[in-house]
Amino acid sequence: MTATQAVDLSLRIGSLELQNPVGTASGTYGKGLEFQPFYEVARLGYVVVKTITTEARAGNPPPRLCEIPGGLMNSIGLPNPGVDAYIETVLPKLRTLGAPLVINIAGHDIADFAILARRFAAEEGIDALELNMSCPNVSGGLDYSTDPKVAKEVLVRARAETDLPLIAKLSPNVTDIRPIAEAAVAGGADAISAINTIVGMPVDWRKRRPILGRGFGGISGPCIKPVALRMVRMLYETVDVPIIGIGGIETADDAMEFFVAGASAIQVGTANYYRPTAAIELLEGLPERIASLGATSLQEVIGTLEMP
Ligand SMILES: Cc1cc2nc3c(=O)[nH]c(=O)nc-3n(C[C@H](O)[C@H](O)[C@H](O)COP(=O)(O)O)c2cc1C
Repeated sequence: MTATQAVDLSLRIGSLELQNPVGTASGTYGKGLEFQPFYEVARLGYVVVKTITTEARAGNPPPRLCEIPGGLMNSIGLPNPGVDAYIETVLPKLRTLGAPLVINIAGHDIADFAILARRFAAEEGIDALELNMSCPNVSGGLDYSTDPKVAKEVLVRARAETDLPLIAKLSPNVTDIRPIAEAAVAGGADAISAINTIVGMPVDWRKRRPILGRGFGGISGPCIKPVALRMVRMLYETVDVPIIGIGGIETADDAMEFFVAGASAIQVGTANYYRPTAAIELLEGLPERIASLGATSLQEVIGTLEMP
């Protein structure tokens, strides 16, 4: 066995054991099924699916997407069929994916998080829940991760309904992400994922209108990576649960930046849109890079960044 083949990429998130740290970011991977023609999805560490809400949602008025230098802006607004239709029509197909399945949920209010946690906890084939506490594109969507008391309550209510690992997905649109993460962990989060998109506004000055139908939207892609890296580092220094890094990750080198900063796992988001094979190529590139640091496991490199 070569040094590269011997590298151990495994990790734990609560009770969940993952073979490797590479997952997909919610909302950027279709329903979770569309990438099967490109590669064997079962090789990924885990798949996170698009946010599901209690009721069906149509989403925001178009245009919902536009490109900006180094990234993408969206105001999609969580269109989804609602939990009942989802469990009936989509979940059966997702059970055949082969990769650990993380269902991403968002509530219209705090009680919704509990309802959704209970509904999915009763279903077979779900490995963890990610709580989208940070959607900038729905009214009130950011509130769950801007106020520590509210963040804790969301986790407490969801925790009361399920033993599944709970991942609290936080917003970068705060003055300080640390108290929010501490509150989420105190409420029962097994991991923190960060970051969701950064709020912004693309403008068409000729029309004197914002480009996106809703006006404001969320920025994602390579241009947000340094923001995400800083937040991951702050989270790593603050809470004792695994951090899942998200934000502008496309390549194995991007992922390594997040691991040394303190992430235990990562998610590939916007890159799926412009390079559908990004996640699997990233995974293939990790052993060699970890070995190049003289390590034999992912665990040995996590958080090893030397801060000035
Ligand atoms: C088009 C689009 C739709 C998204 N939808 C969701 C969603 O439904 N739920 C969620 O938690 N995050 C959603 N996100 C945020 C991503 O999961 C991710 O946190 C963010 O885009 C940053 O990662 P990236 O720079 O790799 O894309 C969406 C992002 C994009 C670009």
